[in-house]
This record gives sequence, structure tokens and C-alpha cells, in this order.
Amino acid sequence: MAHTLAINGGPKTRERPFPTWPIAGAEEEAALLDVLRSGQWGRLSGDRVAAFEEAFAAYQDADYAIGVSSGTTALRLALLAAGVKEGDEVIVPPYTFLATATAVVEANATPIFADIEPDTYNIDPDQIAAAITPRTAAVIPVHFAGQVADMEQINALGRQHGLVVIEDAAHAHGALYRGRKLGAVGDMGCFSFQSSKNLTAGEGGMILTNAEAYSRLCRSYHNCGRLPHGAWYEHHLIGGNYRMTEWQGALLLAQLGRLEEQTRLRDENGLYLNSKLAPIPGIRPMARGQAVTRHSYHLYMFRYDPAAFGGIPRDRFVAALNAEGIPCSSGYRVGLYAQPIFAERRFGPFNGYRTVRPDLRYDASDYPVCERACREAVWLTQSLLLGTRDDMDDIVRAIEKVHQHWEELLE
Ligand SMILES: Cc1ncc(COP(=O)(O)O)c(C=O)c1O
Repeated sequence: MAHTLAINGGPKTRERPFPTWPIAGAEEEAALLDVLRSGQWGRLSGDRVAAFEEAFAAYQDADYAIGVSSGTTALRLALLAAGVKEGDEVIVPPYTFLATATAVVEANATPIFADIEPDTYNIDPDQIAAAITPRTAAVIPVHFAGQVADMEQINALGRQHGLVVIEDAAHAHGALYRGRKLGAVGDMGCFSFQSSKNLTAGEGGMILTNAEAYSRLCRSYHNCGRLPHGAWYEHHLIGGNYRMTEWQGALLLAQLGRLEEQTRLRDENGLYLNSKLAPIPGIRPMARGQAVTRHSYHLYMFRYDPAAFGGIPRDRFVAALNAEGIPCSSGYRVGLYAQPIFAERRFGPFNGYRTVRPDLRYDASDYPVCERACREAVWLTQSLLLGTRDDMDDIVRAIEKVHQHWEELLE
């Protein structure tokens, strides 16, 4: 029988590549050359990191910004500044990158997972409420994929129970929550500029806040415990060298000039894909919360239901789409609680949980929605959404084609 699907040797839906990432041009080149020639390569003598902090804070509607070496560092320092310590619990979602939870372990506190919402994959405020104990010190909502977590309810829980709310905004540069950018909607917000991120310098991170006290603490922690205007050889806190370099600052300033238009385009394409994919049986785009004025689509995700595809497993569906010329993946296959670090509490020297939770167990059955997300999600990365309408139509056509011919995948 002649095959139609590319995975079986049929013609591909698409031969052309999608836009690649990162994107850079003359601005980035000039900015890096300026740093090179200035001889000021570190932030202690240069001014590029400071300029980027100011520009990013203004762009993200925040008062204070501290540039750091990575998103992981940003989370770690924000937790320190929040005063999280041994014996404390911090509530995090299980469907996220490792660092959201390991930063808590590194603060010698205990990460407590709260399950996610089925239609956004963001942390579920009801599950946060159920997980709060007298030991809970903070909560870290992740704006997963670039969709804003339910900050209204999460901030309300924070106020009610005296919790510090730290946004993990590693996916959410430029996203809008009720018309306002993220990072200082909670008490502090942490960004990543690692290679895959919507704003990147290869590596880097940022803490945003509207609270001067937190900003002073983070600035000191990231600079060996020095005071903002204190002497060079005068150290007040146990911090470290978590500084961003001038190369990163210069590159990020140039990249920031591209972010607004890129974010607008991703959002437009994401909405278009939602409208075109929703009618395809077995394909369910994620819901957009009412408070989402703009999604930054670090990932475009949808839910795959094998029942509409003759029971074909998701990985086979993804392989078929890849063969059609559509790069996509199955994303996380397990929730963080199932990683050996958590399942076996391999917390190394960070044994704070033993003080108050010697019985601590992470059990997959406590997170049914995350378990389901790990089975049903399909991820497309952000650079695909920088394509044209034709590019989006190719994604839709490929999915329609795989749906029409799923019997071929049974062979
Ligand atoms: C949700 C989330 N949080 C935190 C991080 C950590 O950022 P970084 O890789 O810059 O340390 C990442 C990305 O890697 C992430 O996706």
C-alpha cells in the first residue's frame, strides 16, 4: 500500500526549516565590540549590566532589578532574601524545570509540590491552599510556557498566610498579566537568559522586585555580601560572586530591542494556532486564563488524546510530526517528584527537611494532573512561533495529515 505519512516514506508536509534561535545582527555585534574595546569586561568597572538592569526593570514594570549569572542563581538569591531557611517549606509546581525546586533545597528548606491545573499546566491555587502548613514560608508560581499563573489568588494566599511570593518568570519575558508585565506582581520575580529563553545571552538571570529591602539584599548576596555603596573589602552577608558579565549586559540590551515585536508575533501566532488546532479531533490547545493579556509562548503546548488517533501513543504521533518537518517534543515525561533527587531525597548536605519532615515522601499519586500532562503534552519551542502565517499553516496541515492517516501508524 502506498504511504502518505512522511514517517513511512511519503512526502513531507514541509521541507523548509523554521526560524532558528538565537537571532542577532549588527546591534549585537557592535555592542560586544564596544565591550571588548572598552576593556571593562566585568560589571564592577563597566556600565552595561547596570544599563540593562534599568532597561529591563522599566520594560517589565518593576522598580528594581539585579542581574545575575543564571535563572537558577536568581531563584537561589531570591529565596535567601526572602529569609527562607532550615525548617521552612516552599510550595512549588511539579511540572517545571528542576531549578524551581532545587533552589528550595539549596536554601535548606523543603520543596512541597502542589499539583497543576489541567488546562493551563500552571500551579493550581487550590492545591497551594491545601499544601500550606505553619512552616510554609514562600510559594514559587512558575508562569509555565509563558502563560501567567493565577497571581490574583496566589498573592491573596500569600497575604493571608504571610508567604513570600516569588515568581519564576523564566518563560515569561514580555508576557502581560492584566496589561502589566511580570516579575514584580509577586514579591520578587526571577528570569533566565539561558540559550533557549525568549531573551538570551547564552546564560544569565535577573531578579525583579518593587521592594527596596529585597533589592538591597539580593544585590548584596550577588556581590560577595558587599553593600551597594560600601567599600570593596567590606563584606556583610554570606553571598558569593553571582554577577552578570558586561558581555551579557551588552548583548541583552541589544536583544531587548527585539523582544517586544517578537513577543507580539509569538502571541499572534499562538492565538492563530489555538483557533486552527482546536477543531482537530484529539488535539486540545491549552486554555488562556482571563488575566492573560499576552502570552509569551516560550513553549506552544497542546494536549494529545490518543483516543482520537486509534490509540497511537503520543511519542509515535510526535515522531510522525517530526518526520513531516515539524520539530516538536513530548516535553517532561515525569513530574519533578519522580526525579531521583526528590524520590530518594538525595539532597546532599542540605538536610533541612529532616528537622521537621523526617517522614517526607513524594508520591506520584498526589499529582494526578501533572501525571496526565506528562502523558498528553506536546511542546513546540518559541522560535517556531516567530514564523509567518504560512509556517503556522504548515504546522496545522501536518497535524491534520497525521490525524487523517493515523491508521498508517498502526503498521
Ligand atoms: C521554569 C524555569 N525556571 C528556572 C530556570 C533556570 O534558569 P537557568 O537555566 O538560567 O539557570 C529555567 C530554565 O532553564 C526554567 O525553565
